Amino acid sequence: MTEPALSAELQDPIDQAVRILRKGGLVAFPTETVYGLGADAMQPAAVAKIFAAKNRPRSHPLIVHLAAPDQLRDWVRTVPDHAKVLATKFWPGPLTMILEKHPRVPQLVTGGAASVGIRIPSHPVAQELLQRFGGGVAAPSANPFSRVSATLASHVRHDLGDRVDLVLEGDGCDIGIESTIVDLCQSPPVILRLGAITQQDLEQTLGFSVGRINRRSTTSPGQHPVHYSPRAETRIVATNQLAIQAAAAAAAGQRVVVLSRSPAPLKTVDFTWWQLPEDLAAVARQLYRRLHEIDAQGFELLLLDLPADEGIGAALRDRLTRAAGNSSVRST
Ligand code: TXA
Ligand code: MG
Repeated sequence: MTEPALSAELQDPIDQAVRILRKGGLVAFPTETVYGLGADAMQPAAVAKIFAAKNRPRSHPLIVHLAAPDQLRDWVRTVPDHAKVLATKFWPGPLTMILEKHPRVPQLVTGGAASVGIRIPSHPVAQELLQRFGGGVAAPSANPFSRVSATLASHVRHDLGDRVDLVLEGDGCDIGIESTIVDLCQSPPVILRLGAITQQDLEQTLGFSVGRINRRSTTSPGQHPVHYSPRAETRIVATNQLAIQAAAAAAAGQRVVVLSRSPAPLKTVDFTWWQLPEDLAAVARQLYRRLHEIDAQGFELLLLDLPADEGIGAALRDRLTRAAGNSSVRST
């Protein structure tokens, strides 16, 4: 007996997503950090579609997402003790570990590298998708290369449109910025990207100091200085200069918006001032939504100040500094 055919609308969206992954298609899914653009990591032809959809160079490796740590043995050659300690503390969650790759992992996933990035996300939709799929899902952030990551399904639809077969809905990405990446192929481990899990969190858990990559002295993938960029020219300015520079640029005819945790000055007639929350975790949660909104509203100049280098503030400083990288090297 054959099963009656179900129309696409009647299918459970996660079952539909699993079917698409198995057939080699692309599924965008929410995680607790940002939206991922996923494909079956074991199908190179499917993984190739990710690079095409994002317009991303193939030298930039992808993170493999798994449902649970017991799947690690299929993806990495060994799990060092430090990785076990970090996994116990931070998985599922916003931590990506770079580990020595298993020979079966396709070269395309790792950009030819001998290592592979692994993350076990905690978002319930991501978890359900990964559990029902059963394999590894290669997924970068679901945005065009060098642009702002997506934290809402609508961002993905707007930016990637019909290049994605299905966009799963989610209640938002609670953290709002990408995972912390730590390279465990080096000893001591080195942080390649900061996120909600801080250097201090990692050091307290491991019991020793970890390094932090200096992005200005490296050409390693993902350390591209122009990244996370809105279309608006973005400048970092001292807090007490924000209103002065905004007024000057507005007087010169530019459409200007300021993003700051400081309150708006009394007179902001010629420019817009969006005040961010005091709490830095709340800033992270809404930052990319604000950057997408700035582009949607057609602002030409974004002025912002940097938070202090503490807690998630360090990761925010990294993202904002890179967003401002576009003022001299504008991409179209
Ligand atoms: O929060 C996140 O990490 C999100 C969600 C979807 O999981 N993903 C994400 O992926 O931000 P992506 O591709 O936008 O950024 C991952 C970074 C890239 O800069 C990539 O170069 C780096 O991780 N990466 C991945 N595998 C690597 C490896 N084997 N060695 C060094 N860097 C690696
Ligand atoms: Mg990305």
